[in-house]
Amino acid sequence: MDNIITIKIEDRDGQVQEIEVPTDVNLSLMEILKASEYEVLATCGGMALCATCHVEVLAGAEHLAPAEDHELDMLDTLPDLQDDSRLACQIRLHNDNDGLFVKIRGSLQ
Ligand code: FES
Repeated sequence: MDNIITIKIEDRDGQVQEIEVPTDVNLSLMEILKASEYEVLATCGGMALCATCHVEVLAGAEHLAPAEDHELDMLDTLPDLQDDSRLACQIRLHNDNDGLFVKIRGSLQ
């Protein structure tokens, strides 16, 4: 269908689920995860200031816009930083992000 993509999410307990995401609503990946009932604190409300929306991109990173400096600075503070770590609040999904696979890593405190 137009403007609907399917992405895969791995939760903290290792459960993997596919969710369908509309790409024409201008939500961040953090907002999509929360709307899909994943536990993401997002304490800063999406300002790239808390890193509780930390995800590791397992597949499809090449189709995401590169992280900007403020996102990279915040990621640098994480003790469990991975090569493909991103802040979900800084990611907007487009049609070419179909098949994106992310693992939720954000802290719950
Ligand atoms: S919601 Fe705080 S850094 Fe993403």
